[in-house]
Amino acid sequence: PEAITVQELANRMAERSVDVIKLLMQQGQMAKINDILDADTAELIATELGHTVKRVSDADVEEGLYDLPADDKAEDLTPRPPVVTIMGHVDHGKTSLLDAIREANVVSGEAGGITQHIGAYQVEKNGQKITFLDTPGHEAFTAMRARGAQATDIAILVVAADDGVMPQTIESIKHAKAAGVPIIVAINKIDKHEADPNRVRTELLQHEVFVESMGGEVLDVEVSAKTHQGLDKLLETVLLQAEVLELKANVDGRAEGLVIEAKLDRGRGAVATVLVQRGSLHVGDIVVAGTEWARVRALINDKGEQVKSALPSTPVEVLGFSGVPNAGDRFSVVETEARAREVTEYRQRAIREKTAGGGATSLEQMMNQLK
Ligand code: GTP
Ligand code: MG
Repeated sequence: PEAITVQELANRMAERSVDVIKLLMQQGQMAKINDILDADTAELIATELGHTVKRVSDADVEEGLYDLPADDKAEDLTPRPPVVTIMGHVDHGKTSLLDAIREANVVSGEAGGITQHIGAYQVEKNGQKITFLDTPGHEAFTAMRARGAQATDIAILVVAADDGVMPQTIESIKHAKAAGVPIIVAINKIDKHEADPNRVRTELLQHEVFVESMGGEVLDVEVSAKTHQGLDKLLETVLLQAEVLELKANVDGRAEGLVIEAKLDRGRGAVATVLVQRGSLHVGDIVVAGTEWARVRALINDKGEQVKSALPSTPVEVLGFSGVPNAGDRFSVVETEARAREVTEYRQRAIREKTAGGGATSLEQMMNQLK
């Protein structure tokens, strides 16, 4: 690989893109999230952040044995929809807002009205697509909120106007800040008698979220999932924010991305909901995700329809996995079934050795042990 974008490099290292940008700045290089770094710079940054770097030949990368960046050239990148994660305290109306935006009704199907997984949906506004990830607000689901924040370009922080800033509101702010993603505040339940949006704005100040009317730069929108007030404005604000970010991806080539959630389904076997971040995923592709692989038997979009392929920023269900991958695993398409077996068996072995104690400590050591 000759080059990699700032975002991809950060993703690969599971680091925050802001940290990569900060380090680049310290070295006198002003960079944005989609800017492309050459291999030398990328290696330097990775080393600075304490990662072991092993350059491999392109042939090795082709074979999918290494989790290494694909080399996207600037001219190969085309605009992609923003991925927007909805975060906030339990019951503040995240799923209801998303239902209202989609004109669907997910809340009523949830056990006790509590979201327990990440839902992924795509909507269209003014001819532009937006991908939404819903996250749970219950305190038990910290890891899912963290994962949601990492997979996203923009976070919508939902705060109920009758309740104000609560513990998981604060936690969500921390996740969004840690992931370096811009926040849009949706002050929800504005239809209620007790609604006090200015109290929300003031409380947010204490957590360093400065909305415009308080002299800051964070955009806030008053909304009601019940009456649909403010929803258009919220979507327009998302598109405005997305425009500033200049989000791009390469739509050609083998797909890669992130496993959002995965489960064992009685009728359908192991099912993974993935977010494609680069390339195009097709039915028939051979996909490796963590220690599991699939020959993609079917792709199902957020509307429950079978589709033949999925482009960057698209959430899609993948059927055909050998076992259930982990939420948060990266996935990538490989050339052959034999290669998929080799990679996943290798990873399973590496994990076994590691958990057996005294095993390999870095990818490089693992590779050496394999020879
Ligand atoms: P978790 O996923 O469990 O964190 O909850 P959530 O944030 O998704 O909240 P949910 O959408 O399930 O809504 C919680 C309750 O608030 C439900 O009873 C909704 O009907 C109600 N609600 C949500 N939005 C509004 C609103 O704008 N106005 C009013 N009046 N009620 C709302
Ligand atoms: Mg919910």
